[in-house]
Amino acid sequence: MTEIRTPRLLLRRWCDNDLAPMAEIHADPQVMRWIGDGSVRDLERTAEDIERWEEEWDEEGFGLFAVELLASGELAGFAGLSVPTFLPEVLPAVEIGWRLGRQFWGQGYASEAAHAALEFALQDRGLDGVISIARVGNDASENVMRKLGMVPERETKHPVYGHPLRVHTIDLSEYHA
Ligand SMILES: CC(C)(COP(=O)(O)OP(=O)(O)OC[C@H]1O[C@@H](n2cnc3c(N)ncnc32)[C@H](O)[C@@H]1OP(=O)(O)O)[C@@H](O)C(=O)NCCC(=O)NCCS
Repeated sequence: MTEIRTPRLLLRRWCDNDLAPMAEIHADPQVMRWIGDGSVRDLERTAEDIERWEEEWDEEGFGLFAVELLASGELAGFAGLSVPTFLPEVLPAVEIGWRLGRQFWGQGYASEAAHAALEFALQDRGLDGVISIARVGNDASENVMRKLGMVPERETKHPVYGHPLRVHTIDLSEYHA
């Protein structure tokens, strides 16, 4: 079982108890504002998402970690790795990403989890580099990318929705935690 502990967080695989809190996160329009077409997701869609995230772990040997607060055991959201199939022009690539419930923003949790996921990409998976893709305007997400040492590489458009996207990258061969 793949698990990582940081000072305040446990990054782990998904379990049944994560469905309700993750669906609550997905029901918040502020959380979903910059993701896909910006719509919220219901319980059924969240269950499909978690199932897909778990399949990616099994197929790729990496995936999106459920992020749990060590102090309370609450699910804060996710951080981790995925293949960005929604943007074929960047493939082959591995993306690092994050999504937390609103009550968990502004406390450094996303960056703490993201650093751990980057370490995992480098040390456990031996990846040479990862990218991260944000809709232009999602400053909070680009702030996390910057703090990880990622740099903007190109701008493009979402192939389905047409909105502008910015792709950040990091060369992990030059990365020192
Ligand atoms: C993107 C997202 C994960 C960023 O979360 P976040 O809480 O803003 O990110 P961080 O973990 O970097 O924390 C931000 C702030 O917490 C503050 N903070 C408070 N306590 C802290 C601590 N102990 N350690 C570090 N930072 C702390 C910092 O001031 C930091 O801001 P700064 O970098 O400007 O100084 C969050 O906005 C989100 O879930 N958004 C919706 C989903 C989404 O858009 N995902 C990305 C799609 S591309």
